[in-house]
Amino acid sequence: MAKISVLDNCTIDKIAAGEVVERPLSVVKELVENAIDAGADSITVEIKEGGISFIRVTDNGHGIDVKDVKTAFFRHATSKIHTIEDLLHVKSLGFRGEALSSIAAVSQVELITKTKNALVASRYVIEGGQEKSMEEVGAPTGTTMIVRNLFYNTPARRKFLKKPATESSYVGELLEYMALSRPDISFHYVNQNQLKLYTSGNGILKNVIYQIYGKDIAKNMIEIDKRTEYFRIAGYLGLPLISRGNRTFETYFVNHRYIKSTVITKAIEEGYQGFLMQHKFPFTILHLEMESKWLDVNVHPTKMELRFAKEIQMYERLSQEIKQSLLKKEQIPEIWEKGRKKEEKEEDVPEKICLPPILNVSKEASAHLKEKVLEEEDFSFDNKKNQSTPMQVEEPIPDYYVMTEEVSQEKIFQPSFLTKEARKSHRVIGQIFGTYWLLEYEQQLYIVDQHAAHEKVLYEQLVKEMKSKEITSQVISPPIIFSVTEKEKDALFQYSSYFQK
Ligand SMILES: Nc1ncnc2c1ncn2[C@@H]1O[C@H](COP(=O)(O)OP(=O)(O)O)[C@@H](O)[C@H]1O
Ligand SMILES: [Mg+2]
Repeated sequence: MAKISVLDNCTIDKIAAGEVVERPLSVVKELVENAIDAGADSITVEIKEGGISFIRVTDNGHGIDVKDVKTAFFRHATSKIHTIEDLLHVKSLGFRGEALSSIAAVSQVELITKTKNALVASRYVIEGGQEKSMEEVGAPTGTTMIVRNLFYNTPARRKFLKKPATESSYVGELLEYMALSRPDISFHYVNQNQLKLYTSGNGILKNVIYQIYGKDIAKNMIEIDKRTEYFRIAGYLGLPLISRGNRTFETYFVNHRYIKSTVITKAIEEGYQGFLMQHKFPFTILHLEMESKWLDVNVHPTKMELRFAKEIQMYERLSQEIKQSLLKKEQIPEIWEKGRKKEEKEEDVPEKICLPPILNVSKEASAHLKEKVLEEEDFSFDNKKNQSTPMQVEEPIPDYYVMTEEVSQEKIFQPSFLTKEARKSHRVIGQIFGTYWLLEYEQQLYIVDQHAAHEKVLYEQLVKEMKSKEITSQVISPPIIFSVTEKEKDALFQYSSYFQK
């Protein structure tokens, strides 16, 4: 039998650090949360080499008193709670007192901090959990934390880090969420000496959305601000037009904390039911505020999970409020009488669906449709024209329609519908909302999302060309300017060789 012994503190700290510090992202998250908890209204984050060799977080918060500087690095040292009862009312982002000790255990840390009443600042250096120096220096009120060479003393952990570009994209994304969580705080994020994100801290959420996602997203979001007995919900709901293919952009904060919650996700999607196509997900930036008594934040130190006391009520109210806000905006495009001009107002104009006329769409996919279109004079796939052209319905619509089978999207992808043979018997009834084709085929009505179909055709074409290396590219003039998030930008660079083809 091996001898039983108690681990020394240094080993305990390194093991415990694994819970909190997984990668540069986790260090930045903890340090920024500390800065927010310290009441800062300006926070600057700088990283180098994805944060592996260098992270600096500077805030103008209340600072740490000189007599508390060393204690702050002890495990379970916190100024945010004192007893377990305090957990019921905790408003700060941190309260476990694990971050500083964990970070210091696996890196080289330098802290410079000054409180408002102190005459001088303290500079404290601690490496691998070992104190190196403590001295007085001159610095403004607030705190600067520098973290160098993450996992320098735990090579096994360092091996699991990804390339600097990938690590920095994680950090960039985190800062976007941080900035969205607190529009009242000014954030600067600098990566390899380049300013990547700046928010003014003027408290206006829409400005932050604009900064991060660009104009096209910002102008297609509607505001929501409602109070219910359990919570207040405020923020922005993306119009169906900017819906996405996955859940990445369903962003929400609970009491300014970025979290993931199946209850909230489900409630949001339920609220959007009927507004989105199948397999589409909403774009939201929402802030939920509720009394801490309805919340349990103490689920896991890093997993961003919360528990709610009134889950069912919250789910129902939340989805109702979202649905109502979307309904109020009347998403249903109006149909214009012949000859009546639509008064265009910048705010209300839905983004032009950038579809070239059908004639430019792949020959294969549209051959039959094309014939049909040319036959029917009054019917055009040109969007602009369509907005003011009423639909022509060829046959009277029966008074009732008995639905024998459930409507499903998958059907359309069954090969039978798309074969050359089948296409001959497609009958185009018309187009609605400038977006959907109504097709009759074998006693069934098919609704084809023209935009999606076009994307699919282009995509298939591109894949085919990529495979046969036949791609020809051309510079467009004037160029199309589009905004990307930090993460998308990194992906763009990472796969630039494909885009350059
Ligand atoms: N940027 C900061 N400004 C002021 N105080 C700080 C800052 N960072 C850490 N502290 C102090 O150090 C303590 C320990 O921090 P940490 O280990 O992150 O634990 P926690 O945030 O859970 O309390 C905090 O409770 C706080 O008092
Ligand atoms: Mg903390």
